[in-house]
Amino acid sequence: MIKAFVVGHPIAHSRSPMIHGHWLATLGLDGSYERIDVAPEDFGTFLRGLKADGFAGGNVTLPHKEAAFTGADVLTDAARRIGAVNTLSFDGQGRLVGDNTDAVGFTAHLDETLGPDWLSVDAGDVVILGAGGAARAVVAGLLDRPATRILVANRTRSRSEAIAGLDPTRVEAVDWDGLDDALRGARLLVNTTSLGMTGKPQLDIALENLPADCAVADIVYSPLETPLLAAAAARGHRVIDGLGMLLHQAVPGFERWFGTRPVVTRELRALIVADL
Ligand code: ATR
Repeated sequence: MIKAFVVGHPIAHSRSPMIHGHWLATLGLDGSYERIDVAPEDFGTFLRGLKADGFAGGNVTLPHKEAAFTGADVLTDAARRIGAVNTLSFDGQGRLVGDNTDAVGFTAHLDETLGPDWLSVDAGDVVILGAGGAARAVVAGLLDRPATRILVANRTRSRSEAIAGLDPTRVEAVDWDGLDDALRGARLLVNTTSLGMTGKPQLDIALENLPADCAVADIVYSPLETPLLAAAAARGHRVIDGLGMLLHQAVPGFERWFGTRPVVTRELRALIVADL
């Protein structure tokens, strides 16, 4: 039996076991996916014991994503760009490979929702709100796409400038106060801040500045329809919810550990939505 895990602290809230468990069951594979709670001080020991414990790999969540980045033997380009690891596996030489699948999770969901040509060159800018770990993952994914300009607006400007450093020829930090101008040229607006999440304040931006053909994405998925997405949909914009990124980021890990590429189906989505 092939074994995989999700490790975090705490870990009870993770939806990964439901996603991978659904795929294991529907594909009829002989595998297991377990949640493991490891305190930060024990994470190094946990990583070193993975192979002896018979794991093919697993997912890493808070607060261990940076420690997994430091502890992996090999890093993928995506992990390097993001500076954090959410997926671990072993390569043919038995080395622990650290990847970050959030970037490809975002772009896969974008393609599925809007089609692969939405961000063709000259279509307009991508405007990102926020500059934390999630913003870094979204920008890392978009940098693999056509040469659209990426504008990052964040309350704390030093963080958006750090993200612009990923590729200064394509990514620019813009002032949160100058957002209206950025919105006027947008093809895609992405909220990566926690604003709009259940229990948090709403995001307050002037959607009337967006061109009619601009799509609006939110990485918040609780609630599934955030106030931002509801307002954008009411104005006729195409909208992309945050759940798709969560589901699609799970695909590469599952394929690597269990050898079969799983599909993000409506059935899986409905299963997670019922649990939100
Ligand atoms: P994550 O790793 O999930 O992206 P994070 O690193 O805590 O989480 O980043 C949260 C983002 O939401 C940041 O861009 C943060 O802005 P700052 O860098 O200025 O802190 C943004 N954010 C959170 N609360 C906000 C608020 N009330 N107004 C504007 N931005 C906010």
